[in-house]
Amino acid sequence: MRFDVLTLFPAIFDGYLGQSLLKKAIDAGLVKIELHDIRKWSGDKHNKVDDRPYGGGPGMVLRVEPVVECVEAVQKLSELEGSVPGHVVLLTPQGRRLDQAVVEELAAKPRVILLCGRYEGFDQRVIDILRPDEISIGDYVLNGGEVAAMTIIDAVVRLVPGVLGDEESHRDDSFSTGNRLLECGHYTRPREFRGHAVPEVLLNGNHADIARWRHEQSYAKTVQRRADLIVPAPKS
Ligand code: 6GU
Repeated sequence: MRFDVLTLFPAIFDGYLGQSLLKKAIDAGLVKIELHDIRKWSGDKHNKVDDRPYGGGPGMVLRVEPVVECVEAVQKLSELEGSVPGHVVLLTPQGRRLDQAVVEELAAKPRVILLCGRYEGFDQRVIDILRPDEISIGDYVLNGGEVAAMTIIDAVVRLVPGVLGDEESHRDDSFSTGNRLLECGHYTRPREFRGHAVPEVLLNGNHADIARWRHEQSYAKTVQRRADLIVPAPKS
């Protein structure tokens, strides 16, 4: 799986990419992440990538030329490498909302290009020309698409075969295809801490009891917190 991240602030990604699960996935060659600085395509001696909006108003707008030319250069790069063109995602609060189904869709693509904006947004012609898959990570406003791009990478990488230690362990995650319930609580040693004991059922070694208890806990938690996730079984 390959990601190309187009951003004005590539350094934001450095710490995140160098840690833990993601670093292991990159080192193992399971995931490749290339950062591209949009500023290199400014075509301007002052490296200017934004400008004032036509019609007036606050803030600055990302110019169409650097963004479109950067995406085209990155797509051409993939051609040269004998790889397929990337699926272009534009991170914006105007996009469709990210959820695990969207994460699964992206994980099925061999290559994803993540286009991060800043300022007030992109010139509309970026969207009209590139026809990107516009994605938002939720109903709040971030200062830019970088954190949203990291969110997507983080969620997608977990679904790449071989990235998680146990091939199946994401199947039980909350919201994944096999189980749209919230997860139950988990416990490890000690058996008791400040009067809080581990539920007895987890200690008795009866795996059928344990599985039933966990499902009941998950279901109860989901009803209480996120009843919207519970879809009635289809009538047979
Ligand atoms: Cl993808 N970008 C920005 N700037 N804000 C957001 C977002 C994206 N998703 C939610 N809020």
